[in-house]
Amino acid sequence: MQTFVTREEIFIWREQQQAEQKQIGFVPTMGALHQGHLSLVEQACKENDIVLVSIFVNPKQFNQSADLQSYPRMLSADLALLHHLSNVVIFAPDEHEMYPAHIPYSPMPLGKIGQLLEGAHRPGHFEGVVHVVHHLFALIQPHRAYFGQKDFQQLAIIRSLNEYYGFGINIIGCETIRESDGLAMSSRNLRLTHDQRQNAVSISKAITLIKNRCGLDPIEEVKQAARYIIEQAGLAIDYLEIVDPTTLEKCTEWQQLQVCCVAAFCGEVRLIDNMLCESVL
Ligand code: PAF
Repeated sequence: MQTFVTREEIFIWREQQQAEQKQIGFVPTMGALHQGHLSLVEQACKENDIVLVSIFVNPKQFNQSADLQSYPRMLSADLALLHHLSNVVIFAPDEHEMYPAHIPYSPMPLGKIGQLLEGAHRPGHFEGVVHVVHHLFALIQPHRAYFGQKDFQQLAIIRSLNEYYGFGINIIGCETIRESDGLAMSSRNLRLTHDQRQNAVSISKAITLIKNRCGLDPIEEVKQAARYIIEQAGLAIDYLEIVDPTTLEKCTEWQQLQVCCVAAFCGEVRLIDNMLCESVL
């Protein structure tokens, strides 16, 4: 499997793909790959001639240095997971290669959507995501890019980044992949102890409760019941909101479609999840 580490290598590879009129799919990751990532890669492989997977733990999107330090890094294991896929190549640059001083970058205004939920609770996070994805899009120039819906707000911001800079990439949101008990797959799950792993499932139980009671009981009552499930399991809620799927503004009444978004600390590990909820109104 070809593994590139420099921009120059990607530039040459990109020219070759273009000369051969190959359709390029792109799956950006921070490594510690799990079944959620693999499902993005599998979809990308079906829909493109060649797929580039980037593996880069982006320091700019971590608002706490302890979180950055403890983020799992396991490049050899990641490569082994992708090794059997013949039309996949890897880009695993270091920080200097990802952010060379001479590459111009003017930040996109994130607007209201970037200030809510994760934006409010993790200052600077989306600025860092947009910065790295901008550089990756500009370098790789894929036809399609694949992102998980688990990062619902990130996906919305990537769509506006694509429009703002005029990249013209087809941004594809892929469904959240869950463990058999419902816990959304995340590289951060690797940091959970056995007991924390048991308790973490309360997040998906809570959002499933919201989905099931959507439109049936008063919205605040349903939120309270969901909070209770998570807190009873010993997690500390950072936020639990029911929001409009387009504006991400808080819903005070049920509407046809809403998304419930949760961030909670399971010990030191911050987990997020969300679910689209259709009202039976
Ligand atoms: O979703 C992620 O893993 C990261 O935010 C991304 C898109 C790879 C940018 O670092």
